[in-house]
Amino acid sequence: MPNTANTPRKILITSALPYANGPIHLGHLVEYIQTDIWARFQKMRGHTCTYVCADDAHGTPIMLRAQAEGITPEALIAKSSEEHQADFAGFNVQFDHYDSTNSAENKAFAEQIYLTLKEKGYISRKTISQYYDPEKEMFLPDRFVKGTCPKCKTDDQYGDNCEACGATYSPTDLINPTSAVSGATPIEKETDHLFFELNQFEEMLKTWTREGHLQTQIANKLDEWLNSGLRGWDISRDAPYFGFEIPGEKDKFFYVWLDAPIGYMSSFKTYCDQSGLNFDEYWKEDATTELYHFIGKDIINFHALFWPAMLTGAGFRKPTGIFAHGFLTVDGQKMSKSRGTFIMAKTYLEHLNPEYLRYYYAAKLTSRIDDIDLNLEDFAQRVNSDLVGKVINIASRCAGFVVKKFDGKLSGQWSPEATALYQSFADKSEEIAALYESRDYGHAMRDIMALADKANEYIAETAPWVLAKQEGKEAELHESVSVGINLFRVLISYLTPVLPVTADKANAFLKLENIAWNDIKKPLLDHEITKFKPLLTRLEMEGIQKMVDASASTMNNGKAAPDGKKERNDKKATSKQPSPAFEPIADEISIEEFAKIDLRIAKIIHAEAVPDAKKLLKLTLDIGNEQRQVFAGIKSAYEPEELIGKLTVMVANLAPRKMRFGLSEGMVLAAGPGGSDLYILSPTDGATPGMRVK
Ligand code: MSP
Ligand code: ZN
Repeated sequence: MPNTANTPRKILITSALPYANGPIHLGHLVEYIQTDIWARFQKMRGHTCTYVCADDAHGTPIMLRAQAEGITPEALIAKSSEEHQADFAGFNVQFDHYDSTNSAENKAFAEQIYLTLKEKGYISRKTISQYYDPEKEMFLPDRFVKGTCPKCKTDDQYGDNCEACGATYSPTDLINPTSAVSGATPIEKETDHLFFELNQFEEMLKTWTREGHLQTQIANKLDEWLNSGLRGWDISRDAPYFGFEIPGEKDKFFYVWLDAPIGYMSSFKTYCDQSGLNFDEYWKEDATTELYHFIGKDIINFHALFWPAMLTGAGFRKPTGIFAHGFLTVDGQKMSKSRGTFIMAKTYLEHLNPEYLRYYYAAKLTSRIDDIDLNLEDFAQRVNSDLVGKVINIASRCAGFVVKKFDGKLSGQWSPEATALYQSFADKSEEIAALYESRDYGHAMRDIMALADKANEYIAETAPWVLAKQEGKEAELHESVSVGINLFRVLISYLTPVLPVTADKANAFLKLENIAWNDIKKPLLDHEITKFKPLLTRLEMEGIQKMVDASASTMNNGKAAPDGKKERNDKKATSKQPSPAFEPIADEISIEEFAKIDLRIAKIIHAEAVPDAKKLLKLTLDIGNEQRQVFAGIKSAYEPEELIGKLTVMVANLAPRKMRFGLSEGMVLAAGPGGSDLYILSPTDGATPGMRVK
């Protein structure tokens, strides 16, 4: 890995390409803020650094989502792209170029890379058997098949793994499989798929993953996979699919994950055409420039196995480094719609200043892949005590004296002690730079705040407000406030990658043009400043509360669409995906078909947990003239006691089903993605058990 010495470097940086079927949320922002800080830091150091990204626009979820909204996929991705870019701009994430994987450039690269791999004998063809939805006439990705877990028998599990017992399996192992797209029972159908022969790159990958391009935690994880032998990677999907058609094939498309990372190249290529940068210098096989991918821990295999293999096979350079981060939790738990902690970028921006979050994430980020927690109380406290209380406070305590007593001019001569103090601040510059470089932002923030403490001690000791009242102390006063402003300037410079807007405001106050890292070496002597205006206000808990309330309400009335479904057939992903709340509207049915469903008001007269089933409650329902026993998969959302006495709605003419725990005679209706976000329907007063719902 290159050192931090100040020789100019040529660096290309990427963040993972967000899916075009969902809005940006605070989880995503961990990554984009982490990358943006790094890019800004490198630029401040004087390196040639380019930061590109794009929307990831292809795949089944995007196709289905567009259908559900009644628009074309192109219209959907255009809308998403606009929203994503507005969110990123709102958080001051500054890309040099933002593109889409659904571009002519990306198509050209995807075809070129595929054809080269094919020519070199890295592509094979195999007949596979896959679930097919006979109503929707499409093959179903694993995540679009649901059914009963073959191992623990929990209902309503995805085709790739069971959320109750953690088992992984293939969709054809599910009991009573149904298509999540139409509800139909899928049939097994044979089809030809194309495979990228990863095994031919096994030796290369074993070496490359141990050459310092990866974090140790990741290299270790990859070892497990590499040692168990690599299989071919399925890179084709059958029509209907939204993506690029595979040249030389009929009705076959590139799997979204084939052309997604190629989006890094094509986005950069488009930027080269605009900016005059040389594409080959960054991508040819023996390139000496640096290439870094920032990603989340859930997409490591795509970036650290498939991608370097594809690049090698197609004659391009491999990444210099892959930087993975952990997942965001809020108040110690997975982001939750019902708690209002599934917070969209847009909702945050309506209530709070983006600089707060940038600072908080920076304070929490390390070079490791551990998850990071946004604790809302700690968030407010940290921002207020560090930024407002320690850093900004220095300037606000000194600026008034400079302007009022010294015509806005900083002093030109300091005592040896003051010079030494300034020097001790400037001397930290390489140490802090090294921390940014290694992405130990949390450590960097702690070091910067320790300096801020020192600066505040200096001001407390020299006490300018006391000197100002004494006769003949002008020189001392002038030195005290001038040194104070200078120390503030060093701190703000160190914080510039994290707080770009605050730094801009500070520079306006200090009458400085945008600053480079090395400018810190020279103090501002005999320098004029302007009147101080507050640079950052306190973060009030009230704002946080409003944001949480707004998040809870947008979620519950279904206006905002949370994280889209992920199309992920690769069982090796290292973390579970959030369950999708958005399900496409099923196909139209006639009124006669609807009339066949006998929905009844039911009173829950008894409820108890089923000890052997992680998700099930056993309910006894009163529907007027009879009682029914129903097993409902709502244990994760309700305590049995709170249900007793409640009214709900049940399907009364559903064929009884024998389950491991007994007979289930019907079904209660509930909505929501699952887990604690699950709500049984509850009719209002006046409805009585047995009434038919029409
Ligand atoms: N489209 C793929 C990436 C293709 S890259 C060639 C994808 N998109 S995503 O929208 O689901 O995620 C984009 C990035 O945000 C990923 O790196 C992902 O790990 C990260 N995050 C998404 N949710 C996150 C959290 N809750 N916490 C932290 N990072 C998260 O994956
Ligand atoms: Zn299970």
